[in-house]
Amino acid sequence: MADNEELPEGTVRNILDQETLKWVFVGGKGGVGKTTCSSIISILLASVRSSVLIISTDPAHNLSDAFQQRFTKSPSLVNGFTNLYAMEVDPSVENEDVGGNEEMDSLFSELANAIPGIDEAMSFAEMLKLVQTMDYSVIVFDTAPTGHTLRLLQFPSTLEKGLQKMMSLKHRFGGLLTQVTRMFGIDGDFGEDAILGRLEGMKDVIEQVNRQFKDPDMTTFVCVCIPEFLSLYETERLVQELTKFEIDTHNIIINQVLYNEDDVESKLLKARMRMQQKYLDQFYMLYDDFHITKLPLLPEEVTGVEALKNFSHRFLTPHQPSAGNLTVEEMEERVSTLRKKLEDAEADLEKLRKGKQKA
Ligand SMILES: Nc1ncnc2c1ncn2[C@@H]1O[C@H](COP(=O)(O)OP(=O)(O)OP(=O)(O)O)[C@@H](O)[C@H]1O
Ligand SMILES: [Mg+2]
Repeated sequence: MADNEELPEGTVRNILDQETLKWVFVGGKGGVGKTTCSSIISILLASVRSSVLIISTDPAHNLSDAFQQRFTKSPSLVNGFTNLYAMEVDPSVENEDVGGNEEMDSLFSELANAIPGIDEAMSFAEMLKLVQTMDYSVIVFDTAPTGHTLRLLQFPSTLEKGLQKMMSLKHRFGGLLTQVTRMFGIDGDFGEDAILGRLEGMKDVIEQVNRQFKDPDMTTFVCVCIPEFLSLYETERLVQELTKFEIDTHNIIINQVLYNEDDVESKLLKARMRMQQKYLDQFYMLYDDFHITKLPLLPEEVTGVEALKNFSHRFLTPHQPSAGNLTVEEMEERVSTLRKKLEDAEADLEKLRKGKQKA
């Protein structure tokens, strides 16, 4: 466990300083501030990089709300900037611009049924392929709430499975598959070879992107959360999943923090502040090797470029926690108790979910 002085700086400056970064994912539970934080990170990056693209992969797009400007599935310049672009894509909708015909698409939907998530993975891969050719200095993702994001990050393996499945079908059924595609009135150009071709055509991009996503010099994942139990719990799950996928993460943004107990008269707020403090302490204990950036809960929403820019200063203002007077052993003891509690909570939640499904 690090001493107080050794704790990583509590700001996102490390992201601006990491000149090799190409992909920055911003994710977390619903409503915690992912869109606000990713928008501000992209604004900050635009001040040190030649060109920045922010992409929303959340079907409930809200970049348009945050910037108060309408965006589409092609990058457009954000008002007031010369090098910041934004686009909103829906990964669950098949991209129409990739060619093919109806029969081919229907075969695709067959394949999609056989391999869950494959069409989402395909359109994500196609989007990445497009974005790769556009030559942005860095790309920021405003992702959908946790579960969805984790699925997207698994897309290389989903596509690989799809490719294998097609190959094995081809081996097993050989000519039969061709006959079937003919039966559906699909000739050679749009038959199973064309589909295989489409998957294989993306193999290079997938492999390249997969390599880049697993390279901590090029990719990092910023976890956004609030100081409450469920959010702490989801952050822990997210960090574990990211570790499993070998995706770097070393920034946590804790949003909506109530500051200055002295200013607060309300009993309710005082109680909430104590509750927040408990979880803040736990975040600092569990993630002492992360850059933890604390952001205040503002009296108003953060919408429009001006509001985003004003708030951006808080992302670079360091704040160190007071670790109290605990010894290293006491801290470690607390961390392991906490991790155990989170595991128990996972089991409890799982039971609850199962109960719900039955009901
Ligand atoms: N620190 C803050 N103080 C006050 N309001 C905030 C703060 N952070 C975010 N907000 C506001 O809270 C709302 C939700 O934030 P945001 O849209 O960034 O969350 P999100 O995680 O992207 O949500 P979703 O999961 O729905 O995409 C927005 O209206 C935003 O302006
Ligand atoms: Mg959002």
